[in-house]
Amino acid sequence: MLEACSSGDDDGYSAAPVSNGGGMNSGTSQDTAVTIDLNNSNFSELASVGGWMNYMDENMLLLRISDTQIRAFSNVCPHAGANNQWSHKNSNFVCSNHNRSFSDDCSGYGLKLTCYNTMIEGTTLTVNR
Ligand code: FES
Repeated sequence: MLEACSSGDDDGYSAAPVSNGGGMNSGTSQDTAVTIDLNNSNFSELASVGGWMNYMDENMLLLRISDTQIRAFSNVCPHAGANNQWSHKNSNFVCSNHNRSFSDDCSGYGLKLTCYNTMIEGTTLTVNR
């Protein structure tokens, strides 16, 4: 869905490592953090509660769960590693590679999606992984 980007100057996100905050965007310098400008049209799916997207550039699933919270997960399927066959329904992400479903709240037993910590400040989403 999203184009790969090598210039990083107009894509609305930055991925670590970011050079000293003096680079082309306002990313952080934290080694494992990804910052996303939620105003960028690439992330319009996250504007409303229930909206989600598979952010392939950073291999993560993003899910808006409230006005102030977005959850983030690895998009690598815990079953056999597919990362591009996701759908979301009834509070589960479903991988159609073998039709397994995984809770979108990181609960449950057995195979689970890897969950990341997230924070929203203003219109910036930070995902720490
Ligand atoms: S790889 Fe996702 S269900 Fe098998």
